[in-house]
Order: sequence, then structure tokens, then C-alpha cells
Amino acid sequence: MNTQRIKLLAFFILFTGMITAQKNTISKPAIIPQPTEVKWKEGSFQLPERAVICYNEGAKQSAAWLQQLLSNTYVESYSMTGSNCMGFSLELNEDLQDKLGNEGYELEITKNTVFLKAATDTGLFYAVQTLRQMFPSEIEKRQINDPIKLPQVKITDSPRFEWRGSMIDIARSFFGPEYLKKHLDRMALYKLNKLHLHLTDDQGWRIEMKSKPKLTELGGKSAVKNGRSGFLTQEEYKELQEYAKARNITIIPEIDMPGHIYAALMAYPELNCEEFSNLEPRLATPPQLYHEYTVGWSKLCLEKPEIYDFVSEIIAELSEITTGEYIHIGGDEIDDERYEEFVVKADSIVRENGKTTIGWEEVTQAPVNLDFISQRWNGKTESVVDVRIIESICTNFYFDHANVPGQEKTNNWCQERGVSLDDAYNFNPDNPNVIGVEAPIWSELITSDDMADNRLWPRTIATAEIGWTPQESKDFSNFKERLGQHGDRLDYLDVKFFKSPDVEWNLEEGEGVFSGFMPENE
Ligand code: ACM
Repeated sequence: MNTQRIKLLAFFILFTGMITAQKNTISKPAIIPQPTEVKWKEGSFQLPERAVICYNEGAKQSAAWLQQLLSNTYVESYSMTGSNCMGFSLELNEDLQDKLGNEGYELEITKNTVFLKAATDTGLFYAVQTLRQMFPSEIEKRQINDPIKLPQVKITDSPRFEWRGSMIDIARSFFGPEYLKKHLDRMALYKLNKLHLHLTDDQGWRIEMKSKPKLTELGGKSAVKNGRSGFLTQEEYKELQEYAKARNITIIPEIDMPGHIYAALMAYPELNCEEFSNLEPRLATPPQLYHEYTVGWSKLCLEKPEIYDFVSEIIAELSEITTGEYIHIGGDEIDDERYEEFVVKADSIVRENGKTTIGWEEVTQAPVNLDFISQRWNGKTESVVDVRIIESICTNFYFDHANVPGQEKTNNWCQERGVSLDDAYNFNPDNPNVIGVEAPIWSELITSDDMADNRLWPRTIATAEIGWTPQESKDFSNFKERLGQHGDRLDYLDVKFFKSPDVEWNLEEGEGVFSGFMPENE
């Protein structure tokens, strides 16, 4: 062999070796939110054609979630109690409470077995969600028949905050059970655990109240201009809560009072003052419907004692059908000398019904009970109570605002340029009273499912990471890289997300065209 040939052969061997090495190295999956501690190991675990998922007492539900995940692969799996596992082991162990808390988990992938451990069923559910993000993204849509290799790893993870929320205003434009269930599915993937529904406002009343049927008979008919009307029946509401609970999500119902309440004032005109002096400026007169955008012009007639019968009846009925521990009473954007008296009474009515009261930050001008939770949105309130806080400051969390400056059909009243992905990600809640974060979308300008997707995603994923990941582990460039990797997963899940221009999106084949703005016929 001459030198030339030897060189060529050596090159060939080296080159094919490189290719083989590349094939054997599986890239590290992008996990969002970033777990507290991840130790990647050498080697992988190839999913076998047949697997046994074994689980101990209490872990059955999570075993079912795991089995559902595997049903979209070539793996034939069955689950059983015990420890004779072939592939997957779920262990619920209360002794791990000190280490992992109520929502934490451990996930270890070795050569032959995936171990999921937690002190609670919720923790195991989150271990399954992390594992889900290690599977090829196609799993979200179709069966995978090619061999699946998972990297060996040990993850120990628990959230920074107990409150990781999303809010949808279904009062201005109605979003029904179908969309809300999709939203819950997507939230679960990112370990979000609270869905706040803004159920009532001037333009509509969206929850059936059997004691006050006209609220939805009339208030269910209207919506903001071009928005959708409708309401949730109590059956639908109950089913939605069950659906959420199975995904470890609590639904928070909000009845906004004493302002933002024209829909109720229209349905029950006796809640108004004489000559409608509580409607100022009077933008509509009962029984007229209201379809416009202006806020801050309606309120219950706070000098009439009868309004408390209404409030008591509504809160009692809502508490009866609500499985979660919270009732949100709104309380925003109102000026009335009897305001403080109202919120103190409304707070005590909620507590008499066995629930914890939440309200927008203005409520803390009143001496409410110290169990109260304040939702901070504009940061202007001088609070007289030291209570727990949910951070929803509008400069960072109002996702009805533009994704990028100038985006059509977005709000800009809180921040002219909108709320960028950077704004959404780089908020650090540093007040010790903060129990978590929640990102709302107000639906005055959001009138379709696709528009809602565009405003919610991917910024809601940034909220999920703020809520879960320790501040010191957050890194915006690294987040953007991981987020980009989730592009095709979001596509497979049919999320019509905004393709943030500063993210390199890995998209489903044929989808790789940047479309920064939604088409105008949205
Ligand atoms: C609000 O944005 N008025 C809570």
C-alpha cells in the first residue's frame, strides 16, 4: 500500500468512527422548567419491547400516566404493584417529604431501569412529565416505532414556589371547556399548577348559578365586540375541575366585585342604585348588553344592604361547586367610600364558606384577614396588611400585551412596547411574602383559540420556569436554547405559539418559516 492509500484508509476509519460515535451519543434533552439538580451520566437506556411498570401503594395514578406515555411507543407495557420491574419503578415514599416536599421528585435512569420516586402522587406526576420531555417530541402526536434511547441521568427536583399559575379572562371573550382542557394539558407538561378563571366582568357572566339563573341567561349572551359569548354549566365546571385535578392543577374561580360587574347589574337591576347612579359614566343601561372595552364604570350599589344577600348567595353556591380551597373576589379598579367595608365583608363571607380569599392588590387597602392572598398587578397599592402575595405585575406577566412591539390586537396600556420573552423570564420575585407567580391574559382583544395560543405561548413557559427553578439556576440564553428545542413538541401538541424571533426554533418538518406576527384574519 502506498502512503497515499494508507492516508486515505486512515481517514476513512477515522471518519466512519466519528459517525458511529455521533450515533451513539444521544444529545441531552431540553428540560423545562430547569430541574434543581441534574447529573447526566455516560450511556443510555434503550426502551425494551416489553416493560413492566411496577409501583407501590399510592402510585397507581402516576403509573397510569406513565403507561399512557408508553402507549405512544413500540413498548408493550403493563403495570403491577410490587418490585419485580422490567424497566420502570414508581415509588411513593412519605419519608422523602423532608427532602423533596409536596411536589418534588427523583428520577434516575440507569442501564436497565427508570426509577421515579416522590413523597406524593403530585411529585411522581412531575417525574413523569420530566421523563416525557426526554422522549422524542413526536410522542406528543403519534406512535414511535424506532428504538428510543434515554440518557442515563439522576435528577433531584422540587419547585421554588407553590403557586405557578396561568389566568384566562373568559368573561370578555368566552373560552369553553374544550380550549380550557387543552390549556390544562399544556400547563401540566410545564408543571404549572393553578388555573385562574376570570369568570365575570362587565361584558359577560360565565358560570351558571342555579340561585340566580338570569346571570347566565342574560349575561351569558354578551361578549366584548367580536368576542365569543357563552358560559360554563355547573356540570362543565365540575368536570373541568376533575380534569385539572388529575393533572395536579387547581382551578381558581374569580367573581370580580364590587366593580367590573355590569353583566350582573343588567341581569338583576335591583343591585343598582336609584337612577343607576352606580354606573358612571353610564356606558349601558339595563337591560342593554355591554360589548365595549372601557373599564371602571360599573359597581354594585354599595349603600344597599341587599347586595350582601346577593354576594352571600353567589359565594355560597360557588364554594359548594368548587373543589379547590380558593375563591377570588376581584376587587380591582374601583373608587367608592364604602369599598373597604365591602371587601372586609366579602372576605369574611368567603371564609365562612370554608375557602381562602384571593383578591387583586387593591383589596389590601382594607384590613382583610391575614389568611388573605393578594394578587399584585400594578404595584401601586399601599397595603395595610402583611399577607401572602401572588406576583402578576403587568410589566412582566400580562401576556395580552404584545410579544414584540407593534403586534396587532394586543394591549399596551401597562407597557407600550409589550411584554417580551425577556421581560417574562427575567422577573425575580424577591418579596418574602411571595408564594408564586401567575400570568394572565385579558381577552378584550383575544377572540379566538389561535390568538390565545399566540399570547400564552411561549411566554407561559417562562412563567413556569420562574415559578419552579431556583433563581441561581436561571439563565436566559440557556432557557432560549432549551425553549427552541421544544418548538417541534409544541407543534406536535398543536400549540399555535408565537415564534419569538430571538429563539432558534426547532420546528416540525416544513414549519421552519419565521412568522413573527399572527395573520391578520386571526
Ligand atoms: C387588573 O388588571 N385590573 C387586575
